[in-house]
Amino acid sequence: MDVTPDLQSLNTLFDARHSCRAFRPEPVPRAVIEDILRTAQKVPSWCNAQPWKVTVCSGAEADRVRAALLKAAEGGGHSPDLPFPDGYSAEYQQRRRDCGWALYEAVGVQKGDRAGSARQMMENYRLFGAPHCAILSSPAELGSYGAMDCGGFVAAFTLAARAAGVASIPQAAVASFAPLLHELLEIPDDRIILCAISFGYGDEDHPANSFRTSRAALEDFADWRG
Ligand SMILES: Cc1cc2nc3c(=O)[nH]c(=O)nc-3n(C[C@H](O)[C@H](O)[C@H](O)COP(=O)(O)O)c2cc1C
Repeated sequence: MDVTPDLQSLNTLFDARHSCRAFRPEPVPRAVIEDILRTAQKVPSWCNAQPWKVTVCSGAEADRVRAALLKAAEGGGHSPDLPFPDGYSAEYQQRRRDCGWALYEAVGVQKGDRAGSARQMMENYRLFGAPHCAILSSPAELGSYGAMDCGGFVAAFTLAARAAGVASIPQAAVASFAPLLHELLEIPDDRIILCAISFGYGDEDHPANSFRTSRAALEDFADWRG
């Protein structure tokens, strides 16, 4: 790539990041978490509203969230504040399948093994063993644009974390139990819960962390005019 050193460094950072699905138990020092948050908040937002708020749960509090999610997940009853997609079709369905199968193959779940895939799905509610979990919310009145700004925050958080040697994973699955999280963590109802970001030091030898996702070719998403 014929790029500036800055873009090269940025690409090195992007390439080093991946969604981590198995963590070691050691906590990340509070000062490091604060540095990650101060870096992530540098993203742009419409009117500089900075709609994100994070409820950062660590130690026993993260375990309390984990236990409550696991219990809720056994009973079903998903109720996200932000409606989940109506469906994934065409290339979106293909990419969703590809990353799902890559994960299942990595952890040894065969096609058709419903019990195995359900067990892996439940790992979401165990927060993949992460010692920390940040619940991300946005003011309801800002609607989709608040959510859009928060998407930028998620990307920046995961990259800042990687730069600090911390692994992470955004989790919409956790947001499917929004009412429980509002109650458990006293997150006011005038905020919508968008996702969790579980984080900590990655267990890089774990099979769940052994695969990487790919990205579409430039011509598949860039439409040039003029
Ligand atoms: C908003 C958002 C929500 C996500 N929710 C989940 C989730 O609930 N469970 C999960 O295992 N991965 C989740 N992911 C991770 C994606 O599957 C992952 O980013 C994608 O497959 C690309 O892989 P990579 O992050 O390793 O590059 C989420 C990612 C984003 C950005």
